[in-house]
Amino acid sequence: MDQMQKEILFSREVIDKRVKELAACISQDYEGRELIVIGILKGAFIFMADLIRALSIPCQVDFARLASYGAGSVSSGKVILMNDIEMSIRGKDILIIEDIVDTGITLSYFVQWLKERNPRSLKVCAFLDKRGRRKVTFEADYVGFTIEDGFVVGYGLDFDEKARFLPDVYIMKE
Ligand code: IMP
Repeated sequence: MDQMQKEILFSREVIDKRVKELAACISQDYEGRELIVIGILKGAFIFMADLIRALSIPCQVDFARLASYGAGSVSSGKVILMNDIEMSIRGKDILIIEDIVDTGITLSYFVQWLKERNPRSLKVCAFLDKRGRRKVTFEADYVGFTIEDGFVVGYGLDFDEKARFLPDVYIMKE
């Protein structure tokens, strides 16, 4: 990774502006409701921290840990729920926060998993939507940025557990 070539794709300033726009939109949509925000670990933790602090409405938070990637940059196609949420979501308004939608497999699985617990509503907010590699039909309700393809790191997104800490988003070069 250290030797790997990468190029900045979204700077921290651009990210900050977009996160605030998303937060404004979500705050408006959930005005007067009791929102529970569920972050998917590990990748969503930085985006979620910024997003919820920019909301103008209160929310509660929970986390789930899902894994579909082994070491490297190719999805195994199999989703494993490593840690489930702790809260009861029956009758509640739920917003899932994810770092990136790629094949769509992780979110399709998790949405289905949560729907079985009968929330009042269930939506998804993804920081990035990588549209070119979908294997299952999946559309997030709120999207920060759309990219076609490529492997991105930074702002919570990792390559083999590296680069999550970077404040900007980079695209990796061959
Ligand atoms: P999906 O199930 O293929 O949609 O994969 C979703 C998960 O794959 C995300 O939560 C990320 O952890 C990981 N992922 C997909 N693309 C990238 C990328 O470009 N950079 C870092 N992680 C990625």
